[in-house]
Amino acid sequence: SISSLSADAVELGKYRHYMQKEIFEQPQALANTLEPIAGAGIISPQIFGAEAVDVLKATRRVLILACGTSYHSGFTARYWLESVAKIPCTVEIASEYRYRESVPETDTLVVVISQSGETADTLAALKHAKSLGMTKTLAICNVPESAIVREAALRFITRAGPEIGVASTKAFTTQLAALALLTLALAKVNGRLSAEQESGYLTQLRHLPVAVGKVLDLEPEIERWAQRFASKQHALFLGRGSHWPIAMEGALKLKEISYIHAESYAAGELKHGPLALVDKDMPVIAVAPADELLEKLKSNLQEVRARGGELYVFADAGSEMPETEGVHILHMPEHYGLLSPVLHVIPLQLLSYHAALVKGTDVDKPRNLAKSVTVE
Ligand code: G6P
Repeated sequence: SISSLSADAVELGKYRHYMQKEIFEQPQALANTLEPIAGAGIISPQIFGAEAVDVLKATRRVLILACGTSYHSGFTARYWLESVAKIPCTVEIASEYRYRESVPETDTLVVVISQSGETADTLAALKHAKSLGMTKTLAICNVPESAIVREAALRFITRAGPEIGVASTKAFTTQLAALALLTLALAKVNGRLSAEQESGYLTQLRHLPVAVGKVLDLEPEIERWAQRFASKQHALFLGRGSHWPIAMEGALKLKEISYIHAESYAAGELKHGPLALVDKDMPVIAVAPADELLEKLKSNLQEVRARGGELYVFADAGSEMPETEGVHILHMPEHYGLLSPVLHVIPLQLLSYHAALVKGTDVDKPRNLAKSVTVE
């Protein structure tokens, strides 16, 4: 439990803010969270609980319920669950789900995601799902003794360690790691994962802390971008596919701690509204991994450029995207396949952090926000 952790786990050490410390703790937080697969050559569904095999085998659909940043990790996982495990998945904001008249399906695995395990709406959404007869429930949570964990049948505890900064960072990436494991476990018990695929994904997961470490090395360059950003009133974040939720998370981080108005869009929606906002004062941040959607995204970006919008693009190594006037490109160290969203969120966390530093806002305790929202 939190209380048994040594005091130095929550001291700032060489860092200026908890948020900065927590961003840089991500390689370790991921390694700790992925410990259940560290030595194993296979993924064992039991990491979700003793009864997990039977529950996962009987699962025909997944319903993910969460709030805030945790909602964004769930939204990312939807792409993984459908593409790898071939299981239909819905992701819903807990405060909406709990009051909506929905149609329950008992072969659903209800997954609640929460850093604190105490968010009132998420807990109530879980209870609501159970009251509708959905008894297969899983909590992905960072606090083992929390209300949400106690309420769920299955559990996976992320091992991010205490997160003090109100803006969530290491809790998010460790949730993604947990959700990647869930995807693989569901794929495996349902016969959707070959031994070769399993070992390939496991290798990628084990290497993740090192890969995240390399992304953190980009900080100086991102800091320079943040200098230009801090004077802006608005920003638009674009992504596609599994990186759309990452664009959403980037926009949330920026507004939370720097108070710059930020919106996120699936890049294909640009021409259906937000393009009207684009001018030289509206920077556009694009999450642009080298995946099958890159060419589509590039044409979306051309539409921005043609309207005089300044682009800040997080591309992958090897992507042919030249820097031109008004187009700033930052190359990520490598393309990371399925788990690429875990890497691509890191520069967005750093960008918000440094923009907030320039603006002089209270990074760890943004105005009007709470770390854990235990009231409605
Ligand atoms: C608050 C925090 C966010 C967090 C959200 C959900 O709004 O400021 O950082 O993402 O609650 O919290 P949870 O503990 O359920 O993940």
